[in-house]
Parts: sequence; C-alpha cells; structure tokens
Amino acid sequence: MFKAVLFDLDGVITDTAEYHFLAWEKLAKSIGITIDREFNENLKGVSREESLRRILAHGGRETDFSATEFADMAKRKNDNYVDMIQQVSPSDVYPGILQLLQDLRENDVKIALASASKNGPFLLKQMNLTDYFDAIADPAKVAENKPAPDIFIAAAEGVGVDVTQTIGIEDAYSGIAAIKSAYAVPIGVGSHEVLGDDIALVNETSQLTFAYLQEVWEDYKKNRRLL
Ligand code: BG6
Ligand code: MG
Repeated sequence: MFKAVLFDLDGVITDTAEYHFLAWEKLAKSIGITIDREFNENLKGVSREESLRRILAHGGRETDFSATEFADMAKRKNDNYVDMIQQVSPSDVYPGILQLLQDLRENDVKIALASASKNGPFLLKQMNLTDYFDAIADPAKVAENKPAPDIFIAAAEGVGVDVTQTIGIEDAYSGIAAIKSAYAVPIGVGSHEVLGDDIALVNETSQLTFAYLQEVWEDYKKNRRLL
C-alpha cells in the first residue's frame, strides 16, 4: 500500500487554477498581450516568475522590461489573485476531496501538499483543510520548480516517507512530469490530450476515491514495476 499522497492544490483541491488564469489574463492585457486557455495550459503548475517570463515571450516582449518592472508586474498579478481568493471557503473544495482526505487519515496514509504556490497555506486555511495536512512543502525552499521533481521529493520528506511509496495528484502537464521524475505514482485530473495517455487519469475529482487510489497503486505495482 502507498504510504502518502502528495497533492497539488490549484486545479486539484479547488478551482483556483481559473483565478490564476483570470489574473494573468488581466495582467497580460495591461501590457498588450492576449492569452487564451490553451496557452494557459503552459502556465499551470509553473511558478509566478516563470509564468510571467512565458507570457512575455508569448507576446514577443521578453526584452522590453527592467528587473524592477518585471517584479512589479509579478506583484500586480499576485495582488489581484490574492483579492480573488479572499472569498474562497470550505464550499469551494472540489467534490470528493474532503472524503478522500478523511479516508486517507482513517487508513493512516500521510497527506502532504506539493504546490508551487506561495498562497497554498492561506488557501488550505480558507477551506478549513489545514489540519488534514501532515506537511506542506515550501516552494520557496526547493531548488527547481516543476517539472523538476524537487517539490514532490520535499513533500514526501516532510511526511517521512520514501517518495517511491507515494501517489502524486496533479492537473498540470509540468506537475505530472515532476511526479514521474520523482518516481512517485502519478494520477492526473483532466484529459489525456493535455496530460498524456500513459498515466491513470480522472475527469473529475469525485472519481478520486480511496478505492480508486488503491486500484491505481495495485495496477502500477503489477504492470509497471515491482515495488
Ligand atoms: C501553481 C499554479 O500551483 O502555483 C500556477 O498552477 C501558479 O498557476 C503557481 O503560477 C505559483 O503560484 P503563486 O500563488 O505563488 O503565484
Ligand atoms: Mg495545479
């Protein structure tokens, strides 16, 4: 049996991936750059600074701003995003997630957060979920962002479990890549077109039951490698 589950937050626990998109869209528009939802898939799971770099490159404006202007734009996006998430409450937790957290606890499976967001702890608090988490990996302390494995390795270390004994849950392409290179077992939330067709995947979080996680784990053990 797996010993811990490492959760992404934005787009897995709640719908904040949409708020990130809206906040980036507004910032991009203010400097004459248009981004759409398809482009936004490249920003999911990606750090604040790297997201801004990708937006500037998308608009052909990567050399137009000083370091101070860059930092100011990143701050403006975050200020706008932080305004939006003040309203997040326990009713915003995605379907099935609370039940899954409760079932994991009952089965002595550790729970950790592996989000790239510096707003993660605040959001868990807003949703009354903080107490379920045995560890929250600090994205400010890892050397490399997703798709590097660092944040998932840090999350597993935080709960004292070898990362190969964990399941990672992600909605972002970069996040699935990070889970794979950490040698954890990935479960995607979303579509095969975006996340690849070589992983277990649910369309909706309500399908993320404890029984489903066990099934994925057993299947992985039997067919993909011997743990
Ligand atoms: C990730 C999101 O979880 O966190 C990204 O998917 C976001 O969209 C990143 O850019 C960093 O978040 P924050 O809140 O620290 O700007
Ligand atoms: Mg995400």
